[in-house]
Amino acid sequence: MYLGIDLGTSGVKALLMDHAQKIVASGHGALDVSRPHHGWSEQNPADWIRATEEALGELKAKHSKEVGAVKGIGLSGQMHGATLLDERDQVLRPCILWNDTRSHAEAAKLDADPRFRKITGNIVFPGFTAPKLAWVKNNEPEVFAKVAKVVLPKDFLRLWLTGEHISEMSDSAGTSWLDVANRRWSPELLAATDLDEKHMPSLVEGTEQAGVLRAELAAKWGINGKVVVAGGAGDNAASACGMGIVKPGHAFVSLGTSGVLFASNGSYLPNPESAVHTFCHALPDTWHQMGVILSATDSLNWLSEITGKSAAELTQELGDELKAPTGVSFLPYLSGERTPYNDAAIRGVFAGLGHESDRAALTQAVFEGVSFAFRDSLEALKTAGTTLSRVTAIGGGSRSRYWLKSIATALGVPVDIPADGDFGAAFGAARLGLIAAENADPLAVCVAPETAETIEPDARQADPYSNAYQRYRALYPAIRGVSS
Ligand code: XUL
Repeated sequence: MYLGIDLGTSGVKALLMDHAQKIVASGHGALDVSRPHHGWSEQNPADWIRATEEALGELKAKHSKEVGAVKGIGLSGQMHGATLLDERDQVLRPCILWNDTRSHAEAAKLDADPRFRKITGNIVFPGFTAPKLAWVKNNEPEVFAKVAKVVLPKDFLRLWLTGEHISEMSDSAGTSWLDVANRRWSPELLAATDLDEKHMPSLVEGTEQAGVLRAELAAKWGINGKVVVAGGAGDNAASACGMGIVKPGHAFVSLGTSGVLFASNGSYLPNPESAVHTFCHALPDTWHQMGVILSATDSLNWLSEITGKSAAELTQELGDELKAPTGVSFLPYLSGERTPYNDAAIRGVFAGLGHESDRAALTQAVFEGVSFAFRDSLEALKTAGTTLSRVTAIGGGSRSRYWLKSIATALGVPVDIPADGDFGAAFGAARLGLIAAENADPLAVCVAPETAETIEPDARQADPYSNAYQRYRALYPAIRGVSS
């Protein structure tokens, strides 16, 4: 048995998989995000442990025999979060998460230092880890003075699981401290934020062993024998492993809290000017590019909260047929924006409202707005040398056929829906656990699931969508000057 643990933003998922990669069961533990100030987004690392224990508890309650047979664990997690530890590994402050934009001034300052883009291949986005440390230094110097280690969220879980400070390439590529081409920490970039390699965990590939489960936890979960913990991956690279997206030309669109258009690459292809992220993949000698939007299902959840209707009810009101855009546009920038504008200060907007614009028109605009944000990422990937001919859909939002039709039409490429199953980040993490525990061939393990159905772009809506996309494109420059 192998266990994949995905530390998401809204919860922890623990997935149990057997040797034949059949999913046995999964357990869940919920998490909240605290937003104490405009643009802030934090979680207490202790809650990650609590949620992981809940998820494991749920698994163990129904499948204690299988949990007892676990031989490998893989970790996946929300990326970029700055978890600050003192010399005794005590947490110094709440973790500053990936969608926290408070450090935009620090990010702009680091980004203006040409070494960052040159060595990391990426813009220094406010969501990345290095500018967060610069913010802490500027605003909480007493905390900064005590920082002995900076770890990413899933690597904090690893510390609890194994007692070791270890990270891997895919997640570390999102810190702004990794030399992404050479897959090692950059002492130069660490020094630019008054840190050095001692503050960082050691590095392995995602497929390699990165610690062994502590005896105390093994006993608590009823596991006998050695349990290898794999390096694992940032959640996007882990999802890619789950979907078998590990070779050039393979791509997915992920509709989670954030939205990601992800393409696997056989070599390092940076193009920071397009605001495309270029990171290491979880497999050795493999990289990937992605466009990231900060609020995908989060946009629909926001509308659901203010209308008092569940996301499912809102979706149902649209019916099954893809509708022509109504003239109402929505920019999904509720937490700012990454690809293609890198604008932490921008916020969302509805435009073109009329007396006739009812709730369904707003829901439709939210779906279209997120679809057009993916189109922006598709264009950005093109300028970075990657052309996609089809994408596979994953994430909670991909349960909505309407949304997938809208995405296929906005992108102009077919969207594949994998055969029934759970091929997300937790499954990818479990695969990495298997690879590390059995020394298995990563390409033989990370195969693609069968496609159950393909959603083609809706030819009737191609022109209306193209016009609506032009309106969408025109809005950002128009509102930039009036956003706070
Ligand atoms: C990727 C990113 C998000 C988080 C969400 O750069 O910030 O996709 O990983 O968990």
